[in-house]
Amino acid sequence: MDNRSIGVFDSGLGGLTAVKEIMELFPNENIVYFGDTSRVPYGSRSKDTIIKYTHSDIRFLLSHDVKMIVIACGTASSAALPHIKEDFNVPIYGVVDAAVYAAVRKTRNKRIGIIGTTATIKSGAYTKYIKDYDPNIQTFERACPLFVPLVENGHFNTKVTELVIDEYLKEIRGAGVDTLIMGCTHYPLLAGAIGRYMGPDVELVSPGSEVARFLQKKLNSENSHSPKRDEHRYSYYVSDSVENFEALGSIFLEKEINGQVSKVDIEKY
Ligand code: DGL
Repeated sequence: MDNRSIGVFDSGLGGLTAVKEIMELFPNENIVYFGDTSRVPYGSRSKDTIIKYTHSDIRFLLSHDVKMIVIACGTASSAALPHIKEDFNVPIYGVVDAAVYAAVRKTRNKRIGIIGTTATIKSGAYTKYIKDYDPNIQTFERACPLFVPLVENGHFNTKVTELVIDEYLKEIRGAGVDTLIMGCTHYPLLAGAIGRYMGPDVELVSPGSEVARFLQKKLNSENSHSPKRDEHRYSYYVSDSVENFEALGSIFLEKEINGQVSKVDIEKY
């Protein structure tokens, strides 16, 4: 048993897709969440900058004595994690392998679509892992840089979102994929609109949810669950204004987080 918190971070709201699943799967776990809202988006930045941000995000979470770190960000998981894994003395889990593990089991026609930020698609990480599993699977990739600002501004289901989805996903839909990895943790917040566009025969994979399922195995095998108790603690930190995060985070988590979000100066870490 280990009642220290699980540390989770993303560049903004997207990592809440992992938090929501962790809360459902492990109701006894404490969670410290960091959304780097002053530096979002990560996906249009260089690899060096993403590595630098990832280092400071992890240092911040470690200052809360967490037992493990979940990089609930496709960009940091694909562009930074392979380079920083050895720099810290704590288990660090990214979303890429968890999402790939789910996708290769779902696909029937061996055609998988992958959407992500510019940095994620440039890293080629998802395709690489998929080919490691099965070189016969074909992948169809597309960077969707406008999705993150749409999510951060609450455009979950609007006309403008539908237009952008059509622009980005037309070719992947035309390629006949039966599985689509929403390779950035922000994108599942658009899952309703993306699902309608892709049609009922395409399975959507959410990396945030998948990494939570992966943790289930880890916590079980290492016996590092938190003990059962009546109260759990969830704390949220952001590096910019708390109001927007509180409003959109409460909608997404379907639980009031007003008053639980604090601002942190991430440049100090
Ligand atoms: N949610 C992130 C990801 O999974 C980051 C998006 C961004 O900041 O560009 O890639």
